[in-house]
Amino acid sequence: MRAAALLLAAGRGERMGSEEPKEPKAFLRLAGKTLLERAVETIEACPDVECFVVAAPPGHETAVGAVARTPKLVAVATGGETRQASVRLALAALPPGYDVVVCHDVARPLAGPKLFSEVLAPLRDGKGGEGVVPVVSVVDSVKRIRGDLMESVSRDGLYLAQTPQAFRTVTLTAAHARAEAEGTIASDDADLLEKTGYRPAEPVRGDPLNIKITRSEDLRLAEALLGLVDG
Ligand code: CTP
Ligand code: MG
Repeated sequence: MRAAALLLAAGRGERMGSEEPKEPKAFLRLAGKTLLERAVETIEACPDVECFVVAAPPGHETAVGAVARTPKLVAVATGGETRQASVRLALAALPPGYDVVVCHDVARPLAGPKLFSEVLAPLRDGKGGEGVVPVVSVVDSVKRIRGDLMESVSRDGLYLAQTPQAFRTVTLTAAHARAEAEGTIASDDADLLEKTGYRPAEPVRGDPLNIKITRSEDLRLAEALLGLVDG
């Protein structure tokens, strides 16, 4: 089984909240290294991933190429307006011959090579259906607030999905083509498979330390967690 990664780095990082003009989130530094550099190093360190494509923020392709130019880089794709479009464009830039693709948000710099191997393993063993998604259980009480009305939601059976998420390339490509044709919008690639009528991805245990950098305080949290992550 041949696996390639799609590194999603084309977001603007609007929720980081700093002043305009600012750099895309992928170029923010966490303990001296950019989020993009960290994702590239993880791929280079993972023996189960042969190569990668990066989706770059429009206008930043050269800067992304300079950071990502390592032995496993095969293409820098210009990202789209949404994450979903960036995945589709990165997939289109991937050379043929890879059975499986692993979609990964560079916004999760603490995902180590081991987690990549763990999402790939079921697909290699002929298990894992069309895709594999790392999840962690919801530990807090959950509330839904509409207007000024708050209602409690049972967290029974609720999980949070992370990346890296692995998929059979033919299935993910077909699901993105169908979504594009039908105007389907999904929150991640697992959701896309469900919404376009493909067999849902299967869960594996995620890593609670694999946080997503969304707001500025997440960078400080990740810096503190870095010492606990063994890769
Ligand atoms: N992403 C992407 N292309 C987009 C939007 C997002 O490749 N058009 C990537 C981001 O670079 C990130 C991942 O998808 O690695 C998850 O997105 P998110 O955390 O929402 O990042 P941003 O979209 O950059 O942040 P924000 O939504 O706050 O603007
Ligand atoms: Mg976003």
